[in-house]
Amino acid sequence: MSNKVITIERHIIDGERQHPGATGNFSAVLRDLTLAIKVIWREVSKAGLVNILGVVGKENIHGDVVKKLDVFADEAIYKAMDHGGHLCVMASEENEDVLHIPDDYPKGKYVLLFDPLDGSSNIDANVSIGTIFSIYRRVSNSGKGTLADCTQPGYKQIAAGYVVYGSSTMMVYTTGDGVHGFTLDPSIGEFLLSHENIRVPKRGRIYSVNEGNYRYWDEGVKKYIKYLQEEDKGTSRPYSARYIGSMVADIHRTLLYGGIFLYPGDTRYPKGKLRLMYEANPLAFIMEQAGGAASNGDQRILDVIPSTLHQKTPLFIGSEEDVALCKEFLQARTAR
Ligand code: AHG
Ligand code: MN
Ligand code: MN
Repeated sequence: MSNKVITIERHIIDGERQHPGATGNFSAVLRDLTLAIKVIWREVSKAGLVNILGVVGKENIHGDVVKKLDVFADEAIYKAMDHGGHLCVMASEENEDVLHIPDDYPKGKYVLLFDPLDGSSNIDANVSIGTIFSIYRRVSNSGKGTLADCTQPGYKQIAAGYVVYGSSTMMVYTTGDGVHGFTLDPSIGEFLLSHENIRVPKRGRIYSVNEGNYRYWDEGVKKYIKYLQEEDKGTSRPYSARYIGSMVADIHRTLLYGGIFLYPGDTRYPKGKLRLMYEANPLAFIMEQAGGAASNGDQRILDVIPSTLHQKTPLFIGSEEDVALCKEFLQARTAR
């Protein structure tokens, strides 16, 4: 007999059935989101045709103005999610303020945060890019959602996921019950379960960081990276370096192969570059659910109490032992 084919929709519904009292609302959120992802995937796979189909900012052959892909993705997600009646508010990297559900649509109990297109500098080179999302239960009482709904600490997430638009397109998500990966079968337009219960190796042999920033790092980070480059067969050193520059893709590889991804603060940008609410938190939730770890250097990412929607955070994420060792180097810096 052939293997059972499990679509993402079935997987989500099966997962929800295990929670007595579940209303199906949550499955509907993930289902609507999957539709938006397929719309983005369709557009991403045409990215290289932009000079044929129309240049960004100009009208294309259909008379539509061609949008930047991150704006397109932002609108695709908002439009797919604004009318289902399951969300009370959204927020995304592309919008300064929270995104309200239109007045004429019902408001639900969930909150969606997202980075519609991650790794946008890689689009024109046909290198993997992604989408990241994070879901919370609302904390406001009813009606329109609020900024407070969108700035909850990461440990309160009830689901998180990402999509990599790569050599194949994959969606990876968790609802706090392990991490599961689905690969898009483009011929039928369905995400099929391909990676059940992903576990990150306890220790890896790859580090991932923008080493061009080396001179701006503090001593702890410099010493850690130098340590990984030394030879010691007992601890698999020297590590290999891999850096795609799309966080989703770098972290996807880290999840599967192990190792560490870091975007530290530096003398120019003390908090680094990555955003807490829709980049670090969802990926930290996934990494922890897969048995890994994620830290800002001082504390667990998921324990950080956010103060603003778009705040940045240093990020050290990956295999448990790699992140623990990295933290030792960072803390030695402060002891000196
Ligand atoms: P985005 O495209 O959503 O702005 O995110 C880009 C981020 C992240 O994907 C990646 O890890 C990082 O920028 C790369 O930054 P550097 O070019 O500074 O290394
Ligand atoms: Mn991003
Ligand atoms: Mn982005």
